[in-house]
This record gives sequence, structure tokens and C-alpha cells, in this order.
Amino acid sequence: MKILLFGKSGQVGWELQRSLAPLGQVIALDCDSADGLCGDFTNRAGLAGTVRRVAPDVIVNAAAYTAVDKAESEPELARRINALAPGVLADEAQELDAWLVHYSSDYVFDGSGEKPWLETDATGPLSVYGKTKLDGELAVARCEKHLILRTSWVYAARGANFAKTMLRLAQER
Ligand SMILES: NC(=O)c1ccc[n+]([C@@H]2O[C@H](COP(=O)([O-])OP(=O)(O)OC[C@H]3O[C@@H](n4cnc5c(N)ncnc54)[C@H](OP(=O)(O)O)[C@@H]3O)[C@@H](O)[C@H]2O)c1
Repeated sequence: MKILLFGKSGQVGWELQRSLAPLGQVIALDCDSADGLCGDFTNRAGLAGTVRRVAPDVIVNAAAYTAVDKAESEPELARRINALAPGVLADEAQELDAWLVHYSSDYVFDGSGEKPWLETDATGPLSVYGKTKLDGELAVARCEKHLILRTSWVYAARGANFAKTMLRLAQER
């Protein structure tokens, strides 16, 4: 099985490189192009060409614009990375009859209520980030064989996250 992984240097992508490896051949990309392959989500033509060239059985997308606050001042860039690029992956995966596995966020909801969200709950993003993640989900659903995983509070030993911030602040203050 050939697996094309995007966002290999992120928190989730980094761990996925390890956990996907036993399942088949993993071609892992980040923003930088390598060996003529493009993993830059602002380059939609490059992405499409890369999927066609690799012809994977499964595409796993762990790349995203994840700067939630900054997205308010960079809505177009966030939309390109979180919504338009996943749409390209969806269309190419559909063409190949491949699976597309995509990570989304609880920011697609409005944060109200006190019960855990269900998949079937109405979405209602309040932020630019949340809206672009929801648009990304809708685009990914253009591919028949897709999985969308809505995560929250992601943390890992690598990368920036709330757990490491709390540890740093506890140490400093
Ligand atoms: N972290 C959370 O708490 C959280 C919560 C809910 C959902 N999620 C979702 O879970 C998924 C993984 O999140 P994460 O925490 O692993 O994020 P992360 O650590 O910020 O990793 C995101 C990855 O996307 C890459 N990326 C950014 N701009 C790109 C571009 N133009 N082209 C290609 N790659 C680009 C980043 O590369 P650079 O490092 O080179 O910029 C990075 O490798 C995302 O879909 C995110 O929306 C995360």
C-alpha cells in the first residue's frame, strides 16, 4: 500500500510517519519540495501533480494553517491552506479511487453547550480558522472515500502546544 502523507513535520504528521510506516510505503512531504514532489499547500497545481505522480492508495493530510489567532489577520492564506488545498487532494483522490484521511478541529462548532459534541451536531464556527477548517471538511467530502477526524487539544513532544506552554510558564513564573 502506498501512503502519501502531507504535513510530515507537524505534531500529528511527525507521529504519523512512525505509525503509518508498518502499513506500507510512506511518502512523507512538508512545505519544502523534494525529489520533484510538492507538499506546499499554497501551490495547488504542484499538489495535484504530486498526487498524480505518486498515485497513492491513501492520502493522509496532517498539514494545516494552525495559527488560530493569526488567521483573523490572514484569512486568505488560512483559506488556501485549510480549504482550497484539501479540495485539490479530494478531487485527485477521487480520480484515483484513493482514500483521503483528513484532520479537522472542534473549532467547526461554536463552543456552546456542556455535552461532548457528536459528529451529527450542527456546525457553526466563530473564527476564521474554524470557518476554513469547516470549508476544508466540505471540500474533502467531495472524495467518496474520505475520513475526517475532528481533534482538539493536540499535544506532542514536538511542536508548540498548550501542554508545553503550561510547563514553560510554570517554570518561569
Ligand atoms: N493542535 C491542536 O490543538 C489541534 C486542535 C484541533 C485540530 N487540529 C488539527 O490537527 C491537524 C494537525 O495539527 P498539528 O497540531 O499537528 O499542527 P502543526 O503542528 O501546526 O502542524 C501543521 C503542519 O502543517 C504544515 N503547513 C503549514 N503551512 C503549510 C503549507 N503552506 N503547505 C504545507 N504544509 C504546511 C506545517 O509546516 P511548517 O511547520 O513548516 O509551517 C506543519 O508541519 C490540523 O489539521 C489541525 O487543524 C489541531
